[in-house]
Amino acid sequence: MMGEGLTILGIESSCDDTAAAVVRADPHQGAVILSSEVQGQTDLHADFGGVVPEIAARAHVERLDLCVERALAKAGVGLGDLDAIAVTAGPGLIGGVLSGVMLAKGICAATGLPLIGVNHLAGHALTPRLTDGVEFPYLILLVSGGHCQFLIVSGPNTFERLGGTIDDAPGEAFDKVAKLLGLPQPGGPAVEQAARLGDPARFRFPRPLLDRPGCDLSFSGLKTAVLRARDDLVARQGGITQQDRNDLCAGFQAAVAAVLAEKSRRALFICLDRSYHPKAFAVAGGVAANATLKAALETVSAATGTPFTAPPLRLCTDNAAMIAWAGLERFRTEGPDAMTLVARPRWPLDPRAAPMIGSGKKGAKA
Ligand code: KG4
Ligand code: ZN
Repeated sequence: MMGEGLTILGIESSCDDTAAAVVRADPHQGAVILSSEVQGQTDLHADFGGVVPEIAARAHVERLDLCVERALAKAGVGLGDLDAIAVTAGPGLIGGVLSGVMLAKGICAATGLPLIGVNHLAGHALTPRLTDGVEFPYLILLVSGGHCQFLIVSGPNTFERLGGTIDDAPGEAFDKVAKLLGLPQPGGPAVEQAARLGDPARFRFPRPLLDRPGCDLSFSGLKTAVLRARDDLVARQGGITQQDRNDLCAGFQAAVAAVLAEKSRRALFICLDRSYHPKAFAVAGGVAANATLKAALETVSAATGTPFTAPPLRLCTDNAAMIAWAGLERFRTEGPDAMTLVARPRWPLDPRAAPMIGSGKKGAKA
């Protein structure tokens, strides 16, 4: 099922990570990540409470060619060993996407290599095939600081969106809750750590949208509920104790996990109602690092007899190996793109699904 001995360079610059990677797929050995370079920009945006598009784009321009050089050197290949170049062509912050697309076009023009424009979300969604060789069709939940959606993946370019957040992404909610409780950023790991020492039953936070059918999600009300609970404590006690903070984190995390688990159960049942069994239920994105969430999703998956998989974290968060792999899959089935390839700020994976609302702190989601 893997590629026919293809070596692809992947380039990613759609948000705040500058990344390049070389992936080789061989019919006998499967897929091998020869190198994967990721240079984050967290430090550059730290003072601004979110990613500043102009700063991100400038940093990508300054760092991309060195990043590509490093990826090639670590993989031990030259441009002459490549079969094609895959680049994120959207969705994302347009200045960053443009930086990557222009670099890829430049290399392709100079070398004659084929160019493949990759949808960043397709990169995330196809990762379980790179890491675990999962076969189509499968269900994936993308949960990160910028993404939150359920997708049925039935081909390299065939995605059906079953639902997603109507406001914040879960990672954003973790980050905002951390901020309002005085915990460090990124908030996810800090909230998870505090929650370990907390009582999830002390504060009963809402389970948003559970009363509505379908797989859509909402997280902004949950964040507001944590804010109110904090303000109540401050009004009554004049401040919050460490135990209050731990209990608030535990209650919030329990609500996020419960909502995502229930919506995952519904997404799995949508597949089963159509009389097919997904080959796997995969979760990807930074929030998938959360142990409580992962355990809840695994339980739901097991209840329907569906194998559960979570790619390693370095391949869940933004990286270029997933772009190289998604490019490789597209290249094999559809061939390259023309040099007229355009960078797109919005690019939904499923063109039939209704447009998503909200754009989050990391820019447009789809
Ligand atoms: O996929 P990712 O690295 O970046 C993008 O969103 O592009 O995801 C980062 C998000 C952050 O919001 C972070 O707080 C969250 O993932 N995160 C977690 C955990 N580790 C990272 N959320 C909950 N629990 C964690 N252990
Ligand atoms: Zn991403």
